[in-house]
Order: sequence, then structure tokens, then C-alpha cells
Amino acid sequence: MADMAKMSIGAKTVELPVLTGTDGPPVVDIRKLYAEADVFTYDPGFTSTASCESKITFIDGDAGILLHRGYPIAQLAEQSSFLEVCYLLLNGELPSAKEFEEFNRNITYHTMLHEQFDRFFQGFRRDAHPMAIMVGAVGALSAFYHDSTNVDDPVQRMISSHRLIAKMPTIAARAFKYFRGQPFVHPRNDLSYSENFLRMCFSVPAEDWVPNPVLTKAMDRIFILHADHEQNASTSTVRLAGSSGANPFACIAAGIACLWGPSHGGANEEALNMLIEIGTVDRIPEYVQGVKDRRYRLMGFGHRVYKNYDPRATVMQKTCHEVLAEVGNSDDPLLKVAMELEKIALSDPYFIERKLYPNVDFYSGITLRALGFPPEMFTVLFALARTVGWISQWKEMIEDPSQKIGRPRQIYTGAPARDYTTIDTRD
Ligand code: ACO
Repeated sequence: MADMAKMSIGAKTVELPVLTGTDGPPVVDIRKLYAEADVFTYDPGFTSTASCESKITFIDGDAGILLHRGYPIAQLAEQSSFLEVCYLLLNGELPSAKEFEEFNRNITYHTMLHEQFDRFFQGFRRDAHPMAIMVGAVGALSAFYHDSTNVDDPVQRMISSHRLIAKMPTIAARAFKYFRGQPFVHPRNDLSYSENFLRMCFSVPAEDWVPNPVLTKAMDRIFILHADHEQNASTSTVRLAGSSGANPFACIAAGIACLWGPSHGGANEEALNMLIEIGTVDRIPEYVQGVKDRRYRLMGFGHRVYKNYDPRATVMQKTCHEVLAEVGNSDDPLLKVAMELEKIALSDPYFIERKLYPNVDFYSGITLRALGFPPEMFTVLFALARTVGWISQWKEMIEDPSQKIGRPRQIYTGAPARDYTTIDTRD
């Protein structure tokens, strides 16, 4: 028998079940509230509202813990590979050797794009932001792969999931090449997921890309760090879009649109721009004062859920040092600015009182720049990695018998009902 919470509104008292998950705070189930008490609840930004039940990812923001299917992010980042994490998120368990081989083969053989799809890119302006291309191109996948858009068919759901994970690097690399004015590079089946992506980005007709194990490992780890993050804005967007029965390609395009914003996935680009703007360590106090005066925010700092160090930021900081050492740029002045800024912010009462700590984006910009990517590509890489999280959450939602079309309520504060007047009678 579930615990019950009592809510009194006027003369009415309503009893509401209190649900518990594996971990996390208890959740008051208010589904019957409107029917029984004729009231709505108000929670802009969903700060106190669980929108679904999920078995995929768990975050304890106070303790700085992030688990995927129960496994700590640091263990996955150190010991697993991105494709293995994809399998884990999608299927719930780590794969056996045989299961992984089959999954790897499936993903590898779905990396190519329909030939006609390549022409689609030519319609964009050369200076189009690669995220603008991503929103359009990923949505357009539903025009090319009709045979996996029936959301009620579990086989089609799995095929579309594999297609999205497999084709996203190809699309992202094409967005990059188009932006750079270089010819597209086709995927190669003998390379790993991350090697293949880096080659499609950095190989040119005059010179093939030479694999570097440290940089490939770093890319793979960055993908793992961004693979999923429970019910964040873009994931909730994917779930909401999918709740109407929209096809998975359209839903992921909606997620990409949401991710683009500077408060979400766009923050890594903004964080690097901020470090460039600060430029030197001596300018940090002036910049921090501007943050305290609320002229701007410290990008790459703060998080809705983490009120402690983002566990992904710890791994990202280590990866950042490894990549900079490998490319011979350990003295990068921006790294110095970032480390000093972090030190100052973590000891300043303004940030301590508000529990503002570095998030995953604080060090990712410097790292991605050292890997050879321009800032415009940062959010694209995030979208590529997050696709598996989005599609796993979408699949879980479709398979949840309690799922309904998402339809929030509102507090209406507009004009009361009134009669239409013709234009000649208005003041
Ligand atoms: N710099 C300065 N102050 C901040 C910051 C920041 N980065 N973030 C929050 N604050 C302050 C707010 O001004 C507010 O102060 P107040 O109570 O005195 O008014 C307080 O901290 C709480 O801020 P909220 O906006 O209520 O916190 P919320 O949980 O809504 O915001 C968010 C979370 C959007 C991530 C915010 O911290 C932010 O804008 N950070 C910078 C952008 C960023 O790095 N985003 C990446 C998020 S991680 C990801 O998407 C992978």
C-alpha cells in the first residue's frame, strides 16, 4: 500500500498516492487532482514535477552522481566505449560479446546516407550554422526512410534507432564539410564509430586523416559524457513531440532544435567564446564582477539539477588536459583562464551560496577546439552524442502503457470573455 499525501483546498481534502522509485525523492502522484479537486498545479520549468517514469538515467544533483542504467558515468567513460554505452542505454543491459558484435555490425552498415540526401545539403547557404543544417537534415530523414516510421511496430522502432545512431555522425560531418567548403567524405566500415566520424570530418582529398589513439579515445569519451542526462529540456522535447505519435526522425529534429539554445547545448560554444573574451587571467576579476552585477552569466557554470560538481566535468577536465598535451598545447592560455576562473568562482561566496559549479561544458569547448573543431560544431557534436539518449527515452515512452499525449495546463491571465466589435466601432 503506497503512502498517501493529503492536500486541502477550500473545504475539500484529497488523498494522493506517494510513489517511490529505486532512488530519488518520493513523488506525489497528482494525476487525479483535477478530477477530484478541480484544481491544477503550477510549476513553470518543471522544477518540482516528474513528467514520466524512467529506467534509463539517474542523477543525484546534490551528491554529484550520474548513473546510466545503474552504472556510474566515470566508470563508463574510463572503461567502456560509446557504442557499448549506446547498447546499454537502448537495451537496458551491457551487451555480451556476441550481442555487441551484432549491434556494432548493425550500426556500421547503417552509416551511409541515401545518395539523394547529399543533394539536400546543397540547398543551404554556405555560411549556414551547422546546427541549422542539423535541424533540417535530421527532420528530413523521415522523407528518406519511410520504412521505419511506424512507431507502433517494435522492429521499425529498433531500425530507426539504429539508423539515427549510425547516420548522425555522417550528417554531422557533412554539416561540417559543407560549412568548411570541402567535399564530403564517405563512411568506412573498417573504422570504429569515433575514428570514422573524425575521418569524415578531417580527411581531405589531398591528405587522408591519420588516426591518433589519444584523440580518438577523447572523442569517444566526449560522446559518452553527453549520451544521456534524464529529463532535460531537449529530452523532454523529444518525449513531448513523440507523445503525439510523431515519427522518431521528426522527434529527434525537435530535440536538436531545443538543444541549440545557449542555456542548454549551446552553452559549450558560449563557454569558449567567454574564455576568449576574457583572454587573460588578469581580466578574470573584472569579468566575475560583471557576473555578480548580473550583466551576464558565467557560461559552463550552474545546472538545474547539479548543486555540486557535475561528475561529467571531472572527466572532461582530465580529457582536456590529455588532448592539449597530445596536440602539444598544454600551455593554451585559455586553459589557464579556465582553471583560474574555476578556482576563483569556487571560492567566491556569490557562487558558493548559489551552489554554482562547473558543468560538462566548461572544459568541453577548449577540448573540442584542440581536436580541430570550430565553435559552431560544438553543439552539433553534443546532438550527435545525445541522439542515443533521446531515442532510448523516446522508445521507453512509446513502450510505456501509461503514456498519454503531453498536454500541460495553464493559469489564464488574459482578457475575460468579451464580444467582438467591428473595426469601425473601435477607438
Ligand atoms: N552564472 C551566474 N549566475 C548564475 C548562473 C551562471 N552560470 N547560473 C545560475 N545563476 C544564478 C542566477 O542568477 C540565480 O541567482 P539569484 O537566485 O540570485 O537570482 C541562481 O543562480 C539560480 O539560477 P536559475 O536561473 O534559477 O537556475 P536554473 O536552474 O534555472 O538554471 C542554468 C540552470 C540554465 C543551466 C543556469 O545555471 C545557466 O544559465 N548556466 C549557464 C549556461 C550553461 O552553462 N548551460 C549548460 C547547462 S548543462 C547542459 O546543458 C549540458
